[in-house]
Amino acid sequence: MNDAERQAIATEVPALLGGMPVRARMLPYGRQFVDESDIQAVTEVLRGDWLTNGPTVARFEEAFAAQVGARFAVALSSGTAALHGAVTVAGLGPGDEVILSPLTFLASANCLLYCGAVPVFADIDPATLNLDPERVEAAFSSRTKAILPVHFAGLPCPMDRLQSLARARGLRVIEDAAHALGAEWRGRRIGAISDLTTFSFHPVKHITTGEGGMVTTNEPRLAEALRRFRNHGIERQVRDRPGTWRQDMVDFGFNYRLTDIQSALGLSQLRRLDAGLARREAVAAQYQAAFEAMPELLPAPTQPGTRHAWHIYPLRLRAERLRADRETVFRALRAENIGVSVHYLPVHLHPYYRERFNTVRGMCPAAEDAADRLLTLPLFPQMTAGDVEDVIAAVRKVVRWAGR
Ligand SMILES: Cc1ncc(COP(=O)(O)O)c(C=O)c1O
Repeated sequence: MNDAERQAIATEVPALLGGMPVRARMLPYGRQFVDESDIQAVTEVLRGDWLTNGPTVARFEEAFAAQVGARFAVALSSGTAALHGAVTVAGLGPGDEVILSPLTFLASANCLLYCGAVPVFADIDPATLNLDPERVEAAFSSRTKAILPVHFAGLPCPMDRLQSLARARGLRVIEDAAHALGAEWRGRRIGAISDLTTFSFHPVKHITTGEGGMVTTNEPRLAEALRRFRNHGIERQVRDRPGTWRQDMVDFGFNYRLTDIQSALGLSQLRRLDAGLARREAVAAQYQAAFEAMPELLPAPTQPGTRHAWHIYPLRLRAERLRADRETVFRALRAENIGVSVHYLPVHLHPYYRERFNTVRGMCPAAEDAADRLLTLPLFPQMTAGDVEDVIAAVRKVVRWAGR
């Protein structure tokens, strides 16, 4: 499609009303990038001696720790298991309160329920869509034990302010960096800053192992506790202690192990992380330039002094300048074959949380307002120049139709 054709489409009838869609096939909002080198790495492990509990897990952990600048990395079977491990080894237990933003995936809060801790939702700063340190301060109680910042979309939270709030009260900081592999806060990689930081390797993330996760830490004691936690609480594997059959369970634990097969994929994917981040940055820059020029839209927030990891591209609609609501714009973009999504329904508004914790709309107005306006646009390394132009053309077309 050339520019003139795109321009013509933009003035056409929306596909939602029977017009011709901008694209013939649906473009997803995220997609894994698996190449031949990944397949070869996995095949090698499949032909080898260790499918799980083997040396490739340790190699992946070492490479990952080096990548984010942490002393230790411990691999687990998912980002959710990584969160469960992190909050457990941080010593959180029944009745302990943990402060987090509700604009996140359920797992950030669910991991607290697994160990009996209580999520306390503090509102976001609408300028960043991340936890607002002033709201954190207002949410402290005598039961507060930790702060759990989530780097929404890949934009780092204000770690200096959150760290100093935590330090002043002797609290743990556990970062959920599922969106933020490769992100940087004032020259430091996310993963090297706090007591514990968790990552996810779900297929739409920066690197994938199918399912998988990682916790990074600089504390040897926490790393050891995580290794036990993911392996039934067993002190050390028999393989590490020739001449003995004993495997002593010393802690409470689970089977949350990542396999060598998955680790081979992760290790291979890690080699392409920087290239993937650069491509995500380039796509995001094109979106920013296009949407800054449209008064009906708020482009994604950015922050000086940080490197954004651009896991997703969060676009906000300025409802006051549109006659169609978010749901209609969502459906109109899907009809154009642009696979938009919404991240997220705030955690405190899910039926389970409403019922269990009596949470209601109005508790976190900035997060609720943002969540009502948000649309996630396609963003992944293998998007072509044409894909990016299609997204921009479709947004332009739909917004023109939906504008006042
Ligand atoms: C912010 C956040 N936290 C935690 C998770 C959980 O990760 P996983 O799907 O690997 O369990 C996700 C994944 O979607 C996420 O986006």
